[in-house]
Amino acid sequence: MDLSREEQMMAQGKFGPVVEEAMEILIKLGEIYEAKKMVKVASVHMPGSSVTVAGEGGTRFVKRQADRGGRFIVQTSLNPAAMDFQRWQEMRVPLAFVSMQRQLTEAYSQMGAVAHHTCVPYLVGNAPRLGEHIAWGESSAVAFANSVLGARTNREGGPSALASALTGRAPLYGFHLRENRVGKVLVHVQAKLKTAFDYGTLGYFVGKICGDKVPVFKGISHQVRVEELKMLSAALATSGAVALFHAIGVTPEALTDEQAFGRKKPEDSLTFGQKEHDQTVDFLTTAKNDYLNLVVVGCPHSSIEEIRSIAQLLVDKKINPEVDFWVCTSLAAKAIADRMGYTEIMAQSGGKLICDTCPVLAPMDEIIKANGYTALATNSAKLAHYAAGKFSLPVYFGSLSWCLRAAAMGKWH
Ligand code: F3S
Repeated sequence: MDLSREEQMMAQGKFGPVVEEAMEILIKLGEIYEAKKMVKVASVHMPGSSVTVAGEGGTRFVKRQADRGGRFIVQTSLNPAAMDFQRWQEMRVPLAFVSMQRQLTEAYSQMGAVAHHTCVPYLVGNAPRLGEHIAWGESSAVAFANSVLGARTNREGGPSALASALTGRAPLYGFHLRENRVGKVLVHVQAKLKTAFDYGTLGYFVGKICGDKVPVFKGISHQVRVEELKMLSAALATSGAVALFHAIGVTPEALTDEQAFGRKKPEDSLTFGQKEHDQTVDFLTTAKNDYLNLVVVGCPHSSIEEIRSIAQLLVDKKINPEVDFWVCTSLAAKAIADRMGYTEIMAQSGGKLICDTCPVLAPMDEIIKANGYTALATNSAKLAHYAAGKFSLPVYFGSLSWCLRAAAMGKWH
């Protein structure tokens, strides 16, 4: 690889052994993907921020790098952790996870990360610009940053994201290059998309067919909300490995058809109508007997706008005492919710704002057992997918209003 003088000095250990090791990882990665050089990155979002992902080995490694003087030289945010740092006892997170998570968060913070612990870093201050190179992990955030913000990143794993934070570099390949960012599959959106749940359903259907190809949506309104696009991003990256999509007239690299496809013809096309929508909902609904005792929304983490709408819908309502109702979010959004009285409204109705974590990154098997959860309802295609597959909880998949009604009744229908 063609390295700059500064990068050569990093690789030769002139900036210390931690940076030397980091550069070695990036050079190896670059060689695998035939990158010709490195690119400077403006920020990093760290995927291995939960101990359920990092494990004991990963936690020890991050701690060691921090203790040896490792310091991040670009803005670095953290993905959700394994627990809510304030409510872990209520959630019944086992103690072993709690102490390890504290060590991991502390080590990242010591190196210079900001411990927001959220999968929507772009809503809490890590918001890259069009064309900016970044090194992010967390598939939903990667798809959002590439597509909606027009930033440039591959889907980084824990070691490569850590290496980029320490060096401010990433190998120049994949979605960092303009030629790899053109659309491949044209998606005609014919179903009416009314809520974020519908966008998640669309994303799940398309991701399954597209794999890692770049889909281009035709028929999404330019009035689509950020919350709907984050749900679309998460679902596309769940059933498939989509890291970038375009929506004609909506996303910044697809103002026209020509721009979206780089003046080439789409390789393939597909249609998402009401039939495909309903089939996807059926596929993700694995529960059968109507009863449930856990309802979770906020995957990806809820924005303050979403929390506001939920609080409004909960005024003078009561959650069924047999049901736990979680709204997952960032600590930053919760701070505003506290000030606005939304947290109090939710608490009065029996719901909880859960910060810093989510069911997929928490030790959910242990939490399910300790709380006796038997079935879950959610409006998130990503969570529905993982709940059924990763921790074998039967799932009801529906819109936010269905979820709220289910939380009040303890039943889906
Ligand atoms: Fe975020 Fe966890 Fe969902 S990381 S996208 S809330 S699975």
